[in-house]
Amino acid sequence: MNQPLQDDYARKVSERYRRVIENIENLPALPEIVTRLLEVVNAPDTSADDASRLIERDPALTSKVIRLANSAFYGMPRSVSSVSSAIVILGFNVIRSVVLSASIMKMFADPSKQTVNRDHFWKHSVITAIAAKELVRHLLSFKLYDPEGAFCAGILHDIGKLIFNEYLSADYREVCQYSRDHEMPLLDAETLMLGINHAEIGRILADKWALPLDLELSMVFHHYPDRSEEIVDFINIIHQADHIAHEAGAGLFEEESVTPEWAESRSQLHVDDGVHDRICELCVAAATGPVEYLSIVR
Ligand SMILES: [Fe+2]
Ligand SMILES: [Fe+2]
Repeated sequence: MNQPLQDDYARKVSERYRRVIENIENLPALPEIVTRLLEVVNAPDTSADDASRLIERDPALTSKVIRLANSAFYGMPRSVSSVSSAIVILGFNVIRSVVLSASIMKMFADPSKQTVNRDHFWKHSVITAIAAKELVRHLLSFKLYDPEGAFCAGILHDIGKLIFNEYLSADYREVCQYSRDHEMPLLDAETLMLGINHAEIGRILADKWALPLDLELSMVFHHYPDRSEEIVDFINIIHQADHIAHEAGAGLFEEESVTPEWAESRSQLHVDDGVHDRICELCVAAATGPVEYLSIVR
């Protein structure tokens, strides 16, 4: 590239970077009910009643939580009619996933911005979440983690892509096209063309919304878990789950290029081929039909 062209390109990238950063700064805070719930859910002495009192202030959220508790997705043996029993049965981490995903889905739902096909986006997120939950369930050495905590991190891991879709819709279309044409991982194409990638956006968002550390680090390091200094094994679960979701055919678009799998990812998690294939099969089955979790939460 000659010098004027190079300068022009650099100007374009920094203009896109400036635009996205400005828009994130002006992004609305999470609804108060969500921030209060995150505080309540993270507090050590919280009871199901504390959380249910908050949820019951919001009729839409109330109905989502109760429907989810009665859904086949969670397959509970008896019917649940109150928010507090739903919380006791599902646990705080499920509540965290529901309130966060429901409010983010609502926040980014402008039908005119469709570079990112939101159906594909959320399906990829849920399939990653399902794989992450299954990985924790099947790995005895990760008993320390709640499978539903991994589910929540899976749901949110790629949220930066929604920000690009919202604020740089036309530019992001070019990025996706470039990634496809050059078989370059989307993350790298974002860095090249926007000056920032969806993982870095995750850090800004987590900061702005005061999200818990497990969610923040999963957003930031899910492509390179070994670059994190904390909870590497937890982030690695999301990394592995992300790859399984792609393998199961649930990408953002067809033939989406992804950063390579960390060579040590499976050995660090003690995932043998049997576990991997079983989770993959489950994800293929989940990816081929409508996802009940989404139809309830959305
Ligand atoms: Fe990603
Ligand atoms: Fe992903």
